[in-house]
Amino acid sequence: MQDRTPDPASLEPIERASIDELRALQLERLQWSLRHAYQNVPHYRTAFDGAGVHPDDCKDLDDLARFPFTTKADLRDNYPFGMFAVPQSQVSRVHASSGTTGRPTVVGYTAEDIRTWSSVMARSIRAAGGRPGDKVHVAYGYGLFTGGLGAHYGAEALGCTVIPVSGGMTERQVMLIQDFEPDIIMVTPSYMLAIVDELERQGIDPRSTSLSVGIFGAEPWTNDMRREMEQRLDMHAVDIYGLSEVMGPGVANECVETKDGLHIWEDHFYPEIIDPITGAVLPDGQEGELVFTSLTKQAMPVVRYRTRDLTRLLPGTARTMRRMEKITGRSDDMIILRGVNLFPTQIEELILRTPALAPHFQCVLTRSGPLDELTVQVERRVEVSAADAETAGHELRGLVKRTIGVSVAVRVLEPNGIERSLGKARRVVDQRPAR
Ligand code: DLL
Repeated sequence: MQDRTPDPASLEPIERASIDELRALQLERLQWSLRHAYQNVPHYRTAFDGAGVHPDDCKDLDDLARFPFTTKADLRDNYPFGMFAVPQSQVSRVHASSGTTGRPTVVGYTAEDIRTWSSVMARSIRAAGGRPGDKVHVAYGYGLFTGGLGAHYGAEALGCTVIPVSGGMTERQVMLIQDFEPDIIMVTPSYMLAIVDELERQGIDPRSTSLSVGIFGAEPWTNDMRREMEQRLDMHAVDIYGLSEVMGPGVANECVETKDGLHIWEDHFYPEIIDPITGAVLPDGQEGELVFTSLTKQAMPVVRYRTRDLTRLLPGTARTMRRMEKITGRSDDMIILRGVNLFPTQIEELILRTPALAPHFQCVLTRSGPLDELTVQVERRVEVSAADAETAGHELRGLVKRTIGVSVAVRVLEPNGIERSLGKARRVVDQRPAR
């Protein structure tokens, strides 16, 4: 694999500033952001007043813990534009996250917010190994989803040549990769796998393409999946994280030189980890729910937004900013099976340790009588016989039992038996009747 470590001189000063400098900047920005939210968004004024706190009470970063959380429900209740802190004439763009039910959550950006977002995305792409002049194939969806346009503006800001492909039409993705010879691809990891399969189907060795770096995010994926991608594609596979409510992609990104979790761009997004049940702030190093407060956003500041993503905070390595460990999963995707908590990422890890099985899978939940049952549906690899795949299915069942401690059924399907997502994969299919 090509060495893609960025030149230290190309980093922004804040990426290598001292912790003290970073904390001082954060406090100043936090105080501004709390005041901005309180003065301009009725929801925050009511919520702060209800909790008996005022922006002036924030004298220290730890004082943030006194402020109330914001949830997706708050955003829905203020649909569509009630959370905006500037007049609509100053909102230069909106995005929305689809959500599985009901109204989408709407987010807004001023022109300055778009510049901030582009700069953190440019920083993310650089951290992943991107350089000015690189060709960047963007296969995240364009539209209300933040993935496509977020990646697009960031790559442009870094000085790259953007190829705005969007998601879907997998054969055409392959043609454009072959013909345009991009250096970097930005796409969900599950859709990257679909592209790799298509390369192979067309008789192209995926290791032979021009790609040197994949910037994968928008859904959970494991270090085992990184090994699979890097091996199959002979390129760096780097994790990018973000969410619409906080900005979009580019809230945190892995550094290609360490690949040890995602550095959070803490000069713009202040992270906390809380106990998801009690709401108490947990010390760095402990796993819990990730919560973000925006420090510079104008159009839609968020205060202690509960992401539902589970991870832990670790000290910075390649950069001053703290890292978050790769996300285990969303609390919404946690499966509770006969008292055992389990995440699709744990299943992904075990599938990738079973060489005859391909990492295309779904966790199907059903109920027979009083008991919930989980069937892992997974494809065999193309080159593996159906009989060998059946044996591998038994192995996987044993692995799940031994490592997670719960019995599941495994159904091995033919290649292409699992629906291919064009964006975020659907890992959990809940077929249980409502109680
Ligand atoms: O998925 C933004 C994004 C686009 C991130 C492209 C990265 C690349 P939403 O649609 O609002 O925004 O979904 C946000 O996706 O709360 C996580 O649950 C999940 N997610 C995003 N990135 C990662 C990641 C975009 N790297 C939700 N690992 C978040 C795990 C991720 N989960």
